[in-house]
Amino acid sequence: MKSISIKLWGLMLALVFTALALIWWFQIVFLESFYFTFHEKKLLKEGNNLVSMIQRNEEQYKIEEKFDELLLKYNARIDLYTAKGVVIYSNERVPVIMGRDKDGFLMDIIKGNKVISAFKQNRTGSSVLLVGFPVVRDNILTAAVIMSTPMASLKATVETLKEQFVIISLILIAVSAILAYIFSKYFTKPILEINSAAKTMAEGNLSIRVPVNTKDELGMLSATINHLSAQLQKIEQLRKELIANVSHEFKTPLSLIKGYAETMRDVNNLSDEKKGKQLNIIIEESDRLNNMINDILDLSQMESDYIKLDRSNFSIIDVIEAVRNRLTFYTENKNLNIEVSYEADYSVLADERRIEQVIYNLVNNAIDHSEAKSSIFIRILEQEAAIRVEVEDQGEGISQEEMPYIWDRFYKARESSSKNKGSGLGLAIVKSILEAHKANFGVESAIGKGSKFWFEIR
Ligand SMILES: Nc1ncnc2c1ncn2[C@@H]1O[C@H](COP(=O)(O)OP(=O)(O)OP(=O)(O)O)[C@@H](O)[C@H]1O
Ligand SMILES: [Mg+2]
Repeated sequence: MKSISIKLWGLMLALVFTALALIWWFQIVFLESFYFTFHEKKLLKEGNNLVSMIQRNEEQYKIEEKFDELLLKYNARIDLYTAKGVVIYSNERVPVIMGRDKDGFLMDIIKGNKVISAFKQNRTGSSVLLVGFPVVRDNILTAAVIMSTPMASLKATVETLKEQFVIISLILIAVSAILAYIFSKYFTKPILEINSAAKTMAEGNLSIRVPVNTKDELGMLSATINHLSAQLQKIEQLRKELIANVSHEFKTPLSLIKGYAETMRDVNNLSDEKKGKQLNIIIEESDRLNNMINDILDLSQMESDYIKLDRSNFSIIDVIEAVRNRLTFYTENKNLNIEVSYEADYSVLADERRIEQVIYNLVNNAIDHSEAKSSIFIRILEQEAAIRVEVEDQGEGISQEEMPYIWDRFYKARESSSKNKGSGLGLAIVKSILEAHKANFGVESAIGKGSKFWFEIR
């Protein structure tokens, strides 16, 4: 396995090696020439100063002081020649160049040229850096200056540096190899932890959490993985609940259907009236099952993330009238009066079929919870940026305690009340449709005061 930690380690080492190679290249390969150029510049500058001092005819003691200074500072030998090539002054007893060496350089300088040379003395066999200046006054060459500094000391410095550099390189490589190893482990450890957590999750254990120790990208990844597993856990929990609820809800109608069907099969002397009653129950319970299945299908479609609203502009009043028509059978049965009030025929941009379902469920609930001969009010109000729809009944109302639960799936208040044949899905469907529309919605109710359900769409 080519792991990230090995790659990281290799990369970091490669970086150190590159840096070392660059330093080596500059220090060792160029150090000598850098060093010489540096000294050469210094000598040239000092030489020029000296020449201008001579040209200015400075007093002799000052010039001699300068000679001594240069000797101390740069270990520089200085010889002063006449225009004819005769030594007139030297700050050492023996001149720098003598014999055959002298002719070449001195002649050049006397001709008026500046001379710079790394030069091997014939006499001692040692190398010197040499610069020579002509001294010109009133366009006439009056003297020549030759300065030299031994190269042996430079060479020694470079050698020392090289040795030090080798030692430093070795230490650096060793230290960086260890540090790179520690760093790469440090960076890959959380990745490995996240990986093993994700594996455990994939195997079905959703309670696992990755420790979040840092605030960097890896910390963020850990937090995301934790969030993911929490979400999955929640979904898993909901799924279990849903299956439990659904099977529980299906049990009652199915056992009723089965019971009555068996009675009709096994009991011979059933009166026609009884038969009719039992068949009606079978049909009612089948309808209930059918409705429930439709609701569950709706709800699961709404709650899956793929809910796509089919928006269009439509008249909210048309929708309310359609719902009223569909429910005529029940309102007439209970002798209920539905009053619709509005200021204008508002048009909204929403999913028409689903908004109709919202209104249907709310009105249906209002009918369920209304006493016979009472009224249900449907109001359409214009808000600043939305259209508000209210469905109000004069029924028994909802207690504060159950208020938070009525929107939950399968929640039915007063479960014992035989009046309520619903499955507790109506408001859950309302909620998910309105949430998909990003609409505001709510309920105002109190026991004995009726209930007012409302929502606001654009
Ligand atoms: N207008 C209302 N007045 C009083 N209680 C209500 C009203 N509307 C809803 N509720 C309460 O909220 C609960 C949940 O309502 P919901 O519409 O979700 O389910 P349901 O009517 O029992 O069944 P379903 O609508 O699925 O046939 C109801 O059981 C009832 O107790
Ligand atoms: Mg309902």
